[in-house]
Amino acid sequence: MSPEAWEPPLNRPVLPGTARTDYERYLNMEELLALQKGADEWVHRDELLFQVVHQSSELWLKLCWNDTAGAAELVGDGDIPSALRLLGRASMCLRFITGQLDMLEQMSPWEYQEIRKVLGHGSGFDSPGVKELRPAMARLGEAFHATLVQAGVPLLDVYVHGREHEELYQLAEALMELDEWLQTWRIRHYRVVARVIGDRVIGTQGTPVEVLGRLIHRVEYPELWDVRNELTALSQST
Ligand code: HEM
Repeated sequence: MSPEAWEPPLNRPVLPGTARTDYERYLNMEELLALQKGADEWVHRDELLFQVVHQSSELWLKLCWNDTAGAAELVGDGDIPSALRLLGRASMCLRFITGQLDMLEQMSPWEYQEIRKVLGHGSGFDSPGVKELRPAMARLGEAFHATLVQAGVPLLDVYVHGREHEELYQLAEALMELDEWLQTWRIRHYRVVARVIGDRVIGTQGTPVEVLGRLIHRVEYPELWDVRNELTALSQST
C-alpha cells in the first residue's frame, strides 16, 4: 500500500457536532441559516433581504464594538500601536454597514409597507450593536484624553506639532475616522429611511423621522471636530 493511503480523508469532519462538514460545524451554519424566516412565512419575499441586511449589520457592529472596547483597554495600557490596528478594523466595520444600506433601496417603497406591518414595535433604537458601541467609544475617548494628560500634550498641540507626537496624532485621527464613519452611517441611514418610508412619518416605536434628521448632527468626539475650528482660527491669527 502506498504511504498516501494512510492519510486520513481531509473531507471527513473532526470537530464536535452533527453537521456534515467542519465548515458548517465550526461556523454554526445550521443555526445561522435558520435565523431568517422561511419562504412559507414571508409576507413578502423581500423579508429575506431586510433580515439579511439587519442581521449582518448587527454582526459587523458586534465586531466593531468589541474592537473599539479592546482598543480602549490598549490605550489605557499605553499600547497605542496595537490599539491602532483594532481601530482600523472597527472603522472598516462601519464602512461595510454603510455600504450595505444600498441594498434596502432595492425594495419597492410600496411593497415594503407590507413588511413594515409585521415588525411590531421593532426599532433600530434597540439595536444591540449601536447600544454597545456608544459606551465603548466613550471609554476610548476617556482613555485618549487620559493619555494626553499623562503626556502633558494639549489636544491642539497634537495637531500643531503632529510630527513630534506621531503616535498621539495617529490615535486622534483613528478616533476621528471611527466617529466620522458612525456619523456617515447615520446620515446615509436617514436618507434610506426617507427614501423608503418618507421623512414626515412616524417610526415603528413612535419616533418621527424628523428626529432622525436631527440625530445626524450627533458626534461622539465633539472636541476632536472642534479642534479643527481652533486650528483655522490659530492659523488666521498668526
Ligand atoms: C428600510 C430600512 C430601514 C428603515 C425604514 C428604518 C427606519 C428607522 C426609523 C423610522 C427609526 C427611528 C426609530 C423608530 O423606529 O421609531 C430608525 C432608527 C434606527 N435604525 Fe433604522 N431603519 C432601517 C434600516 C436600518 C438598518 C439596516 C439598521 C442597522 C443596524 C438600522 C439601525 C437603526 C438605528 C441604530 C436607529 C437608532 C437611531 C440612530 O442611532 O441613529 N436601521 N430606523
